[in-house]
Amino acid sequence: MSRPTTVPGGALPVQPGPAQADPQPRGHDDVIAGAGPMVRPGERPTVRLREGGSTTAEEAPRYAPEWLELRESADAAARAVELLDPLRNRPAGAPDGSGGLVVHDLGCGTGSMGRWLAPRLDGAQHWVLHDRDPYLLHFAAVASPQAAADGSRVTVETRRGDVARLTQDALDGAGLVTASALLDVLTREEVETLAAACAGAGCPALLTLSVAGRVGLAPADPLDAEITAAFNDHQRRSGLLGPDAVTAACEAFAEHGAPVHVRPSAWRLGPGDAALTAQWLRGWVGAAVEQRPQLRERAGTYLVNRLEQLQAGELHVTVHHSDLLALPRTGGVAP
Ligand SMILES: C[S@@+](CC[C@H](N)C(=O)[O-])C[C@H]1O[C@@H](n2cnc3c(N)ncnc32)[C@H](O)[C@@H]1O
Repeated sequence: MSRPTTVPGGALPVQPGPAQADPQPRGHDDVIAGAGPMVRPGERPTVRLREGGSTTAEEAPRYAPEWLELRESADAAARAVELLDPLRNRPAGAPDGSGGLVVHDLGCGTGSMGRWLAPRLDGAQHWVLHDRDPYLLHFAAVASPQAAADGSRVTVETRRGDVARLTQDALDGAGLVTASALLDVLTREEVETLAAACAGAGCPALLTLSVAGRVGLAPADPLDAEITAAFNDHQRRSGLLGPDAVTAACEAFAEHGAPVHVRPSAWRLGPGDAALTAQWLRGWVGAAVEQRPQLRERAGTYLVNRLEQLQAGELHVTVHHSDLLALPRTGGVAP
């Protein structure tokens, strides 16, 4: 592995991500790491071998750390902070031996959830960062949060594994489970497994930034709706939930009697977010074309126009997401 370098202005040490290891010429028909993992046409987007074996790290979609870094500030601005109130009002989380709150962050990527949340909660915290990608776990470990809101110590450990197979035992001692931009890349069965583990552990789950399937672009374009529909279909490929993730998660937690709160957490991107918007647009349009190849020509022109509007400071984009907080069932641990 080559030595990490630093991207100008970037907080994270960055080296070319696995997704960029074999760069391809970029045309309108390439899916670029803007709206999801880097999956090239013809590759299996996600491998689900629940019966006969497990998804290996090599088979699973990979996320470029550069993309996760690019979206981090928009994610931070979008998060529904009001969902933290019930967490702050709860008694201290399950003890980790030193009385601190143990937080399990699932699909942590480079650790943006911890960097956002740890300094917003009082008291000592121990974060257990889960991901199947060891490369991203490395970034999460080196850029981990240091202190809580009140200055208390925050410690971190990383765990490599498949969060879609999470068990209640793996969450033993957890005071909080978090995830960010994860639910929509899981299947219904996987979300049910996750909900069962959280409910069994008797701790709240803050599951944020799931795509809602709605996008607003100003000025409007006649092709917006068709690209949105094709992108949403792309997200649902291979049984993944995509824009159905929050509904599925609400149903899954309800099965365990867990009260669920859902709040909007949209990205609102203006002229000051040009780099993120450009990358998102390329990924969004590219995925739509991969899903519906007949869109290629019109979508190519559309993308060029949109990027010109962006460069002229004339484009505003709202990408709707939802944050979900599931609380433990009143009266104790859910079955
Ligand atoms: C869209 S990224 C979000 C990363 C991070 N939470 C953030 O908000 O920046 C999704 C992350 O979930 C991880 N992931 C997806 N499915 C997973 C699974 N079944 N088991 C473990 N990690 C998974 C990916 O490796 C990736 O890091």
